[in-house]
Amino acid sequence: MDLTSSQHNRLHNEKRRKLERQAGALVTATDLPELLGNLQHNVLQNTKLKCKHQPCVKELSWGIDLEKNFPRASCHFDYIMAADVVYHHPFLDELLLTFDHLCKNDTVIMWAMKFRLDNENQFVDRFQTLFDLEVISNFPSLNITLYKAMRKGMMKVRPFKLSV
Ligand SMILES: C[S@@+](CC[C@H](N)C(=O)[O-])C[C@H]1O[C@@H](n2cnc3c(N)ncnc32)[C@H](O)[C@@H]1O
Repeated sequence: MDLTSSQHNRLHNEKRRKLERQAGALVTATDLPELLGNLQHNVLQNTKLKCKHQPCVKELSWGIDLEKNFPRASCHFDYIMAADVVYHHPFLDELLLTFDHLCKNDTVIMWAMKFRLDNENQFVDRFQTLFDLEVISNFPSLNITLYKAMRKGMMKVRPFKLSV
């Protein structure tokens, strides 16, 4: 049987994802340093004896010491999950910088955004200067949208189906 190169790539990716599922995910949960105790507690409550690899809890202050704590050369995240990180706080530039630092060309961001105030909502436009966005789900009564995002131009290269 002859395969076109795109069929070959698809098979290769499916095989790789199956192997990855069997290996279990390596998860890093992050927050500000003063909140790590609480985060560690919550992560343990939710994952103890339930997952192959215990998630790593790690300090991340958006925009600060990114290269020191998450060196580009050795850090690779397949997915970044961000929920309700855009609200009335003065670190939106730093948040965007952090997404930019942590995202490789094949990283998929899953981002739940609650729309509140205009100023914060404009973050979506700024985000789109670096990333392509796709709406995965909408909850209009809650003003919440779930987005998938990838670096500009990379969405076509790595199509992705959300299966839950
Ligand atoms: C509204 S909470 C959302 C928490 C959680 N993702 C959820 O959906 O329940 C915002 C989170 O962003 C974190 N955060 C706020 N400012 C931050 C900063 N400058 N650097 C890192 N994390 C920050 C907060 O500590 C908090 O955990």
